[in-house]
Amino acid sequence: MLEKLKLWNNKKTTTGTIFTKEEVLSKTIPKHIAIIMDGNGRWAKKRALPRVAGHHEGMKVVRRITRLANELGIEVLTLYAFSTENWKRPKTEVDYLMKLPEEFLGTFLPELIEENVQVQTIGNRKEIPLHTRNAIERAMKDTAQNNGLILNFALNYGSRDEIVQAVKKIADDVKSGLLDHHEINEETIEKCLMTSHIQDPDLLIRTSGEIRLSNFMLWQLAYTEFWFTDVLWPDFSEEEFLRAIGEFQHRGRRFGGV
Ligand code: IPE
Ligand code: IPE
Ligand code: MG
Repeated sequence: MLEKLKLWNNKKTTTGTIFTKEEVLSKTIPKHIAIIMDGNGRWAKKRALPRVAGHHEGMKVVRRITRLANELGIEVLTLYAFSTENWKRPKTEVDYLMKLPEEFLGTFLPELIEENVQVQTIGNRKEIPLHTRNAIERAMKDTAQNNGLILNFALNYGSRDEIVQAVKKIADDVKSGLLDHHEINEETIEKCLMTSHIQDPDLLIRTSGEIRLSNFMLWQLAYTEFWFTDVLWPDFSEEEFLRAIGEFQHRGRRFGGV
């Protein structure tokens, strides 16, 4: 595999330069990568399969990308798995998507524990079916002692919903006298977001050619580098992930400075 990766080194493809794992590791690794995993339905449609077949295939990609992210020493990998708007989909599809965490964790939890990965989530867990919640909470508990990669699933997550919840909490604290409204600053808001314990993403990847955020981490992505690819999520490879990181490593981040 390494030999093969070396051969790819610096060869141009239709989507850009090939970066080897070694090359990527020789530069600063982004601490937090967030991915909008999109295109499962189109992947299935291209093969005349039901949409859920695309979601199933996408789950295997989650496993491969998690393993590589962990090997690269990335601290947090946030994966957008289900948005607050995805409830609008047909019930059969929603039901399938709500079974996926159980299937994923049922298959891979022992390996994740072994690999020192911590499973976490952002999103409103109270609204998801009990069987889904139980599987996730068990995985969170079983991996809570680990200190490797944080595998953070955004499940029933919506950034506007998150901001609404934060504003309500701040209003409550002002009303009850815990907080003086003159003291509200960026940190006050950050502390009330679901990501309060993790740093903002350095790199955002979206697959499938859509160039939008779809209600994902609107606050947290203020200074994140964006990287889009036409590749559909079930086709997203380790090579493509390394390319995203490699190209990120060649960007100049200024954060408003010079
Ligand atoms: C992403 O794939 C997975 C979820 C949103 C749950 P889609 O299901 O959105 O696939 P497309 O965009 O219809 O191809
Ligand atoms: C965003 O993808 C949500 C997830 C990847 C979970 P969608 O497929 O739901 O987004 P839109 O509808 O194309 O904006
Ligand atoms: Mg989509």
